[in-house]
Amino acid sequence: MMFFTVDRDKCNLCGDCLDECAFRLLEMKTKDSLPTARDVEFRSAEERCIDCGHCVAVCPTGALTLQARTHAGREVAKQGPEDCLPILPELIVSPEQVAQLLMARRTFRAYHDKPVPRETLEKIIRVARYAPSSHNTQAENWLVISDKMEIRRLGQTVIDWMRSMSQEAPEFCRAIDADVIVDLWEKGEDSVFRGAPHLIILHGDSYLGYLNASRDNFAVRLAYFELAAVPYGLGTVWGGFLVAALQLWPPAQKAIGLPEGQEAFDAMSIGYPKNQYRRIPMRNEPSLTWR
Ligand SMILES: Cc1cc2nc3c(=O)[nH]c(=O)nc-3n(C[C@H](O)[C@H](O)[C@H](O)COP(=O)(O)O)c2cc1C
Ligand code: SF4
Ligand code: SF4
Repeated sequence: MMFFTVDRDKCNLCGDCLDECAFRLLEMKTKDSLPTARDVEFRSAEERCIDCGHCVAVCPTGALTLQARTHAGREVAKQGPEDCLPILPELIVSPEQVAQLLMARRTFRAYHDKPVPRETLEKIIRVARYAPSSHNTQAENWLVISDKMEIRRLGQTVIDWMRSMSQEAPEFCRAIDADVIVDLWEKGEDSVFRGAPHLIILHGDSYLGYLNASRDNFAVRLAYFELAAVPYGLGTVWGGFLVAALQLWPPAQKAIGLPEGQEAFDAMSIGYPKNQYRRIPMRNEPSLTWR
């Protein structure tokens, strides 16, 4: 059986499913024949299919269903039109609403000592997982740390890295203002995670670190995450110092304590911000070239 089926009674032969497949894995042998899997050299269409569901999602008549299968050692569920979420016209947002959401999103650096309900964090993560990922890999694992002592310990790890760096590479240390972060920490301020009650760590198979696209995938996930958090009145701050330590200093990876073969790639703190921004600050004009 093919890895997808097309309902002859529903298919109108429009060819939209062919257009939206990343690797053109579907074909119609004549303009009157139903879509079938294209013959591709070296690896079959079924093996190359990335389970993105575009062919199902784009079909105007709901004729196409991806069948359940085992792919690259993973069980992939059946995906027909009835398995997909609808796109609700009444929820489509205006350009102005999107612009305000994106432009008014800010980094927050002061938080209430109030935990975010687990259901809220899970809702946000469930939206963020719809971020694009190269080859639809969706290879990230989410770790949510809410234990104050553990967050403090990881903050201390970042400070330890900064201190070790201040001796080995003092100029770099000053260039990233690590000297100020250490100074604030010593005065009792959580200058690393800004006192937010939760720390989100994105991790995945260690080999992913060799691919720039994988690193992009993790970052895009977190960009979605922080935007999805805005309507809940939540604020976020990227864990850039922790990520730098994770990349440059092996003890930092060890401090996260992930299972063997897993590596932490990105981090973000989240919580209820103490302050509200009253206006959108200025940003550079885009440096823009047209060709
Ligand atoms: C870092 C990155 C690189 C990507 N590169 C390509 C690409 O070169 N060509 C392409 O057709 N799609 C590319 N994509 C899109 C993914 O294949 C796509 O996000 C994924 O299949 C899921 O589909 P969706 O974005 O419609 O949810 C890329 C996505 C990301 C995040
Ligand atoms: S699921 Fe995606 S990759 Fe697979 S056949 Fe459909 S459109 Fe192509
Ligand atoms: S998009 Fe749907 S209706 Fe159009 S050719 Fe593909 S299966 Fe048929």
